[in-house]
Amino acid sequence: MTKDRIKLLILPGDGIGPEIVEQALKVIDIIKKNGIMIETETELIGGAAIDQYGIPITREVIQKADNADAVILGAVGGTKWESLPADLRPEQGLLSLRKALNLYANIRPVKVLDSLLDSSTLKKEIIKGVDFVVVRELTGGIYFGEPRGIDDNKAFNTEIYFKNEIERIARIGFQIARKRKKKLVSVDKANVLESSMLWRKVVAKIHKDYPDIQLSHQYVDNCAMQIIKNPRQFDVILTNNIFGDILSDESAMLTGSIGMLASASLGPKNSLYEPVHGSAPDIAGKDIANPCAEILCIAMMFDYTFNRAEISRTIKNAVEDVLNQGFRTPDIAQANSHIISTSKIGDKIARRVKELLPAE
Ligand SMILES: NC(=O)c1ccc[n+]([C@@H]2O[C@H](COP(=O)([O-])OP(=O)(O)OC[C@H]3O[C@@H](n4cnc5c(N)ncnc54)[C@H](O)[C@@H]3O)[C@@H](O)[C@H]2O)c1
Repeated sequence: MTKDRIKLLILPGDGIGPEIVEQALKVIDIIKKNGIMIETETELIGGAAIDQYGIPITREVIQKADNADAVILGAVGGTKWESLPADLRPEQGLLSLRKALNLYANIRPVKVLDSLLDSSTLKKEIIKGVDFVVVRELTGGIYFGEPRGIDDNKAFNTEIYFKNEIERIARIGFQIARKRKKKLVSVDKANVLESSMLWRKVVAKIHKDYPDIQLSHQYVDNCAMQIIKNPRQFDVILTNNIFGDILSDESAMLTGSIGMLASASLGPKNSLYEPVHGSAPDIAGKDIANPCAEILCIAMMFDYTFNRAEISRTIKNAVEDVLNQGFRTPDIAQANSHIISTSKIGDKIARRVKELLPAE
């Protein structure tokens, strides 16, 4: 879709969510001034919605999200709401939204920037040049499976996948691989779980439509190890909801900080962009959170939803340039870094976007 008038729903959420979303909005503002018509509306989700309405997302907000061209989310959750029952907690707002909009494909790029090689806990020679994408199934599996329940004596959840859910996410994975290095690793636990046995069988069947892609399979435990041992082997990792959740947080550490990882959640009609990290209550309100992931969400949005790869590239370049100049939030600071606040790094990135954008 190439659009000249764009309608965005902004859901800052909780904790550091509002602080990092504010920086992304600075970038959006620059792009607006450059001639692209963007309307934004801001609404509540998560704990902020619980405090206001008693529930983590209202039907009206879900409707607004459905009507928007794209949704930009900060993060939800926090200690304040931890004692609530599971179905009333902030995280449920996001799960309901993903389900309501059928956002079944979560795309999480993991790219190690040369300027951040020293920020990772892993050795430079292992992570240099790492550039892969985790494609995670987002609306099925154990987070949604029924039956589920808990009493004082037992608790249970259901990992369930239907053939059509696996088929559609596999197609997304192969299509992304086609635009990259044409290598896809499907990750499962087919030696133990029936749901994974079906996953492997269906992925192999869909692969017949993508013969140009090299497909291999890994068990999730091995994959977790390989991401640390030799992450450059990966191009596209295709996996289910829970394995993707865990592997993408693990992968985040290759990049230096979870504050660097953006994600897109795509459905047949809608798209939502959010950082991989949560609401980071431990640093909320201190103006020290890394806003790069949220800003890179805007870059992903222009690429995936609006087909404006040049704007996307400009935003990514602006982030890289500011990091190359040595400006950092504390999570990615190195010995010679200039440590600056969330809002200051947001200002610098927005200013750099302005310098780099060609006149419309
Ligand atoms: N999509 C979401 O909204 C989402 C995702 C994961 C967790 N959560 C929720 O967030 C809350 C906190 O969860 P958690 O502590 O397990 O995970 P988290 O991702 O919020 O934080 C993990 C660690 O990473 C740090 N961190 C995260 N984002 C950062 C950033 N942008 N800059 C610098 N440091 C950053 C935090 O300070 C913390 O030390 C919980 O309520 C959880 O349910 C929400």
